[in-house]
Parts: sequence; structure tokens; C-alpha cells
Amino acid sequence: MQLLGSYLKHHDTDTELVELIETLMVACKEIALQLREGALAGIHGTTDNTNVQGETQKKLDVISNDILKEVLLDNPLVHGVASEEEDDPVFGNPEGRFLVTFDPLDGSSNIDINVSVGTIFSILEVPEGAPRNSVDLFLQPGRKQVAAGYVLYGPSAVLALTTGRGVNMFTLAHTGDFLLTREQVQIPHTTKEFAINMSNHRHWEPAMRNYIGDLLAGSEGPRAKNYNMRWIASMVAEVHRVLTRGGIFTYPWDSRDPQKPGKLRLMYEGNPMSMLIEQAGGLSTTCYEHIMDIDPQEIHQRVAVALGSREEVEALMQYHRDTPSVIQQ
Ligand code: AHG
Ligand code: MN
Ligand code: MN
Repeated sequence: MQLLGSYLKHHDTDTELVELIETLMVACKEIALQLREGALAGIHGTTDNTNVQGETQKKLDVISNDILKEVLLDNPLVHGVASEEEDDPVFGNPEGRFLVTFDPLDGSSNIDINVSVGTIFSILEVPEGAPRNSVDLFLQPGRKQVAAGYVLYGPSAVLALTTGRGVNMFTLAHTGDFLLTREQVQIPHTTKEFAINMSNHRHWEPAMRNYIGDLLAGSEGPRAKNYNMRWIASMVAEVHRVLTRGGIFTYPWDSRDPQKPGKLRLMYEGNPMSMLIEQAGGLSTTCYEHIMDIDPQEIHQRVAVALGSREEVEALMQYHRDTPSVIQQ
């Protein structure tokens, strides 16, 4: 059994990056413990607050955010953190080398029903010579990430991690250590499984309706195979399934809020998940362009997401090339 830290060191990972990832895992272990206590600790339910994106905060959104913020800012390697649950970035050591963005608790509508949730994180470096303590430091395309990953709090707690050399998975043992359980994960190139919130069907672009319609037509339709569908409403759990057995997951643009490019957030969800998926041989797109090529304009920027098995994502993109878009740019 290989420990997370020693595995990374043996694979020539920058020692400061290893230290930062270990710090992140201190926070994630604490979140895992809080989640395990559940109703016993009185941590279910919502707060009276909404976050900057107008969403009601669950108690555990706030608890997880506070744990991550406190633990990370205590590490002098950290220059600043940006979170889905914070209006603005929070800064730590002015000389710190790293920036961390995170979705402290993804899928938090699942907490009260005891279904899987997760923490998603992305690590960037402070660009050389850049002015310190500025939100602009974070506005780097996903291709600049030096590491990304998530911890899925499911029946077991699993870290999926990339430092740009493939994707590895580590499971939290009863000893409190993350131990290597899957090395160099590769997503199958083809799939018969898709994940989308079907209740938004009437709000999608014509291209998305055509694509999903053809999947539903099964073996008699143009895609000539029978598909299965899943929707957990927890991106971490969906991406974990895709990394484990393939599939396509999408949360596309829709006309409910036409000015927003999508529901999910580029810096906390889109970019880190895209890095994992591409490092595992899959594809991640807005339906039109690679997510990690986007130049972020704003820290809480939204993005349309479609990711997973390479051939399926390519097929989806072809539908979007073939059908005129209704999105106003
Ligand atoms: P969060 O809990 O961080 O706000 O993210 C929820 C996201 C994502 O995890 C999931 O795929 C999607 O929102 C679920 O959306 P619906 O409620 O529309 O199904
Ligand atoms: Mn989320
Ligand atoms: Mn969240």
C-alpha cells in the first residue's frame, strides 16, 4: 500500500506541491468526519444566507468552506484562496507560491438525504512578477493548473488527483491515510451511459435536444445502440463514475437564465474536472470549445460543461457544429 505523500514524492512531484496537497487532505479529512456524524452533529439543513451566486447555503457548505480556508491559509505556501462560497478571494502569505480555488461541498442538495457529495479543488501558481493580493491572479486558463482533483465522500472517501501526469486515486483508510487504490486511470473511449438533468429538456439548445433524442432512440436510432441514464445531482459523483467506467456528463447552457453560459462554475468545477478528465484520456468541452482554453474574465464565471468518453463527447460536439446555436454571445 502506498501513501499519498510518498507516492507523489517517488514520482518526482515538486516537494512544495506535495506539501500543499497534504494540507488540502487535512481539511478534506475533517470534512469527511463532519459528514459522517451527519444529523448527530446537527449539521444538516440550511443557513439563512445566500452565496454570491444567489444560492442558499447549506450549513455544511459553510462549515466545509471555513475548514478549507483556515487550514489552507495556515500554510505559508498559499498566497490566496478563492471559493464558490466566498464573495472575494482571501489572501494569506504575500510570498506564497500557490493559489487554490475550490468548491468546498459539491452536490450539497444531497447532504440531507445522505447521498454522495465532494470537495473539488484546483491549484495554480502566482504568475512571476504579478502584483500580489489581486483577484486577477486567479484568472488563468485551466491549462495553467499545476494540479486538480476532488475528494468524493461516498461509501468510502476517495481522492482523485492529477498533477499533470495522469490521474491516480487514493482511498481514505481508517488510519487517516490516503492510500493508492487506482493508478493511471484511463476512461474508455466509447460508452452507453449519459448523465443530464432531463427536466431541463425544453430549455436546451436544438443541438442538445437532437443529441439526447438520438441517444433515447437507442438501437433503432442513428447512434445504433441502447443507452442508459444516470443523474445523481452531484458533479463529483458523476465524474467519479465517468472516470471509473466511462460515460458522458453534461450540464449545458439553457434558456432559464440565458445570460449565463451555464450553471456550473469555471474556476471551481469546470477547470479542475476538465484537467482530470483530459489527463485520463477523455474530453471536456462547453459543447463548442475546450473548457481549459477559456480565458476567465471573472472569478465566479459560469460555464457549460460536457465531459467524458472521448468518442461520445466528439459526437456531441458534432451535433453542435451541425445545428445553428441560439446562444447570444
Ligand atoms: P453545488 O452543490 O456546489 O452548488 O453544485 C451542484 C451542481 C452539480 O454538482 C450538479 O451536477 C448540479 O449542480 C445539479 O443540478 P440540478 O439541481 O439542476 O440537478
Ligand atoms: Mn458544485
Ligand atoms: Mn458547492
